[in-house]
Amino acid sequence: MITELIKIRGLMQNHDDFVRAGNLLKNGEVVAIPTETVYGLAANAFNPDAVKKIFKAKGRPGDNPLIVHISDFDDLSKVAVDIPEKAVTLAEKFWPGPLTMILKKSAKIPPEVTAGLATVAVRFPSHMYARAIIEAAGVPLAAPSANLSGKPSPTSALHVIRDMSGRIPMIIDGGECEVGLESTVIDLTGDIPVLLRPGGVTLRELRDAVGEVSVNKKILEEVNDDEQVASPGMKYKHYAPSSPVVIAEGETGAFVKYVTDNIKNKNIAILCFEEEKALFDGMGVSVFTYGRLSHPKELAHGLFSALRNLDEFTFDVIYARMPKADDGISLAIVNRLSRAAAFSKVVL
Ligand code: TXA
Ligand code: MG
Repeated sequence: MITELIKIRGLMQNHDDFVRAGNLLKNGEVVAIPTETVYGLAANAFNPDAVKKIFKAKGRPGDNPLIVHISDFDDLSKVAVDIPEKAVTLAEKFWPGPLTMILKKSAKIPPEVTAGLATVAVRFPSHMYARAIIEAAGVPLAAPSANLSGKPSPTSALHVIRDMSGRIPMIIDGGECEVGLESTVIDLTGDIPVLLRPGGVTLRELRDAVGEVSVNKKILEEVNDDEQVASPGMKYKHYAPSSPVVIAEGETGAFVKYVTDNIKNKNIAILCFEEEKALFDGMGVSVFTYGRLSHPKELAHGLFSALRNLDEFTFDVIYARMPKADDGISLAIVNRLSRAAAFSKVVL
């Protein structure tokens, strides 16, 4: 299959391209689209055959459900039923934006989207082009991240091309994704909302909006093979470069010493904060950074891109630095990076 890449300059300038993307989606095809979080691999959420194509293009396990994207508050009632008060509050506060809510699914959503679950994940993205494409398609769009299963989520069209070229008919290039990590996922089907995946909307913001929110333990812990999980995505390793990643926890000084001590017999890369970079000058170690520790949003924005850059090379080990988990965006960074490291770490 030939993949067409369309660079968007503006809603007006590329009006015809949005119509074409919408038509492909109407006709049961898959199109990669930009969103404010990461790129998505979209198909008509009401069409089971179209949705199956997403799983095929990604190599995604069939038991991992997709997020349904809408471009209007009114569309929520088409995809979900029995919407609780807290979901309405969260939608008013954070939609459009990087928040996905788990709700009871409507009969219109086929089991292919939800992997047979009685619940559906719904998100109203804020990205102008994502909204324009949903509108052009005229239906809600099921879309996981547009990476091959197991690779880091794509935050630029180049990442999507790498993974999806030849597998789908069209990629819409809307530039770099602002947030850089996938949306926050919150389950609203019980009495107390449960955070299933931290993301752009933080735990602090969620609690400010609806009071008590519990945090699924598996956000910061490894899942064993035989374990039941609240969100199927938690079972999969995800986000991993091909070389082994080990989290290096401790002060900067101790980290520099550790790398110095280990450099002699190993081909080492480090993924560190911008503030630490100069300390490794001339040391013979490959240095990658993903933003300033003092600006966690920058770290979130740069993480997946850095993991993809690391994946271009082979190292004996990649030592990665991460911020402390809190109730802000750092929780999401720690969640993604810990999983990229398969939870292995050294405490310095
Ligand atoms: O930011 C995002 O959320 C991006 C963009 C494209 O919108 N999408 C995304 O999709 O990250 P994906 O498929 O890579 O991640 C969806 C996560 C998975 O971990 C999946 O298991 C979980 O949401 N999920 C989907 N439906 C669910 C449900 N009914 N119950 C529990 N978890 C669900
Ligand atoms: Mg994904």
